[in-house]
Amino acid sequence: MRRKLIAGNWKMNLGLNESGVLTRKILGKVNPGLLKKTDILICPPFVSLALVSGIIKDSGIKLGAQNLHYEKDGAYTGEISASMLKSAGCEYVIVGHSERRKYFHETNNLVNKKVLQALSNDLKVIVCVGETLQEREDDIFESIITEQTEVALKDIPSEKMIDIVIAYEPVWAIGTGLNAAPEQVSHIHALIGNTAEDIFDKNAADNLRILYGGSVNKDNAKEILSACGVDGALIGGASLKPDDFIFIAEQASDIN
Ligand code: PGA
Repeated sequence: MRRKLIAGNWKMNLGLNESGVLTRKILGKVNPGLLKKTDILICPPFVSLALVSGIIKDSGIKLGAQNLHYEKDGAYTGEISASMLKSAGCEYVIVGHSERRKYFHETNNLVNKKVLQALSNDLKVIVCVGETLQEREDDIFESIITEQTEVALKDIPSEKMIDIVIAYEPVWAIGTGLNAAPEQVSHIHALIGNTAEDIFDKNAADNLRILYGGSVNKDNAKEILSACGVDGALIGGASLKPDDFIFIAEQASDIN
């Protein structure tokens, strides 16, 4: 069984002080036994990364960013590079979140460029894929997710697949309180796994962790995390509530 990963995406919430407060609260609730069984990752806004990195140092909690630029460096005003994220203490970066795709017009090709840049700087990547409500209703969601996965993973050396996590986040479930049913989740996770196996090999697919995201909370976490093929969760709203976030991580650890 793959080790579970519980990731908190704080999105555009919390200033520096509040980020420090939330991090300390999370730290205070994590017992070492929990981290032995489950990876816990927090992804604060860019400006809080260095501060949060200092607070969680040596705790076992992992740090990630929510985005990066696809170029190494240069004249890209307002952008953040992979090496900057490394220097702030990041181990992970989220790429291709549906909010980036929707509001910042990120295409599958752009997502692929970001994934490659992150990997070449030794960052681990959480690649987000997922269909809109319209795509589900039009019954094209499987081809949408297959294409998102295939393009995101293009040109990745197979030995780097160990640094890839995929998060299946149906767009209609993000921040809405709606969830995909466990069998829907398992179906898509199997589809993503098969797509990875077609591109790479069975070994790469077997090691690929696939998270579910979209309105995961303390009440539905156990059911979602128990579904076949679910290796953890990417959590937005509930990751800002330390009790709920750690409760979800404990649920994951009980299933392990
Ligand atoms: P949510 O967000 O848990 O608030 O639905 C999940 C995400 O966008 O990653």
